[in-house]
Amino acid sequence: MHDTFSHRIVGGLRMPRILYGTAWKKEATAQWVEAALRQGFAGIDTAGQPKHYDEAGVGEGIAASARTRDTLYLQTKFTPFAGQDPARLPYDPNAPLATQIAQSFSNSRNNLRSDTIDALLLHSPLREAAAQRAAWAAFEALVDAGQVGLLGVSNCYALTQLEQIWRNARIKPSILQNRFYAQTGYDRELRAFCRAHGMVYQSFWTLSANPQLLNSATMLALAAAYERTPAQILFRWLIQNDVVPLTGTTSAVHLRQSLDVLAFELEPQDCAAVAALLDT
Ligand SMILES: NC(=O)c1ccc[n+]([C@@H]2O[C@H](COP(=O)([O-])OP(=O)(O)OC[C@H]3O[C@@H](n4cnc5c(N)ncnc54)[C@H](OP(=O)(O)O)[C@@H]3O)[C@@H](O)[C@H]2O)c1
Repeated sequence: MHDTFSHRIVGGLRMPRILYGTAWKKEATAQWVEAALRQGFAGIDTAGQPKHYDEAGVGEGIAASARTRDTLYLQTKFTPFAGQDPARLPYDPNAPLATQIAQSFSNSRNNLRSDTIDALLLHSPLREAAAQRAAWAAFEALVDAGQVGLLGVSNCYALTQLEQIWRNARIKPSILQNRFYAQTGYDRELRAFCRAHGMVYQSFWTLSANPQLLNSATMLALAAAYERTPAQILFRWLIQNDVVPLTGTTSAVHLRQSLDVLAFELEPQDCAAVAALLDT
């Protein structure tokens, strides 16, 4: 497969055009990460958030896959206290924020068995401006130390907030990872900001939040025409519109179908038909 079809270059790094998400798999995490990598996925999304992610299981799955580190894109997150289970924290909650981030990141490196991590995301922006600036400075220190390639933010749904993070950053965010759904107008303005500023928009809830889209007559007709599923049509449309979708499937069939979205292309008029659905 042609390289530019499976990857895009972001800040000098190769980011796969679709990522395997590792949330909610509990004790089956290692098994599914290994299966995804053996099937051909090259990018993993995880988080230092034991409540939803077994990050050590992700590391175990990567090791079992026998894939070499240079063929993989690894992305994790720092989750602020509000998003954590207080009984299972990857850092000392009484330590200063910068120390919490350093501890969480060190734990992630151990879990993933890798000295360097391709991308670190802030799981959600911090409400207080001073805390947000301190967190970002701690993120930048990890880039300065050569331990992280790209920085990003997740669950940021207000354009003004993303603009502020961008303005205040010495090392600019490269990634926005958000829910992709109708309630936020599919983040149209945020996606435009990303495109204009060389950021990558990554989508989650892509399938689960959009049954109306996937079951629409247009999608069903496109699925029939391309001999694909509606889910594959939506993933493919996103890829052709500069979005990197995440799938956390635990179905062998869906794993294969998710990768197959790298093997076909939607014609311009069909892209326009999907875009029209998002505008209604
Ligand atoms: N930043 C954040 O706050 C945040 C929040 C949520 C998720 N995430 C990330 O995003 C990843 C994906 O999570 P998600 O919420 O988008 O949902 P998901 O875990 O991918 O799955 C949602 C539903 O879609 C189905 N599905 C997935 N891929 C499919 C495919 N190719 N074809 C048909 N059905 C498919 C799954 O069923 P099957 O298992 O049967 O395929 C499941 O019922 C997570 O693992 C995590 O890494 C991030």
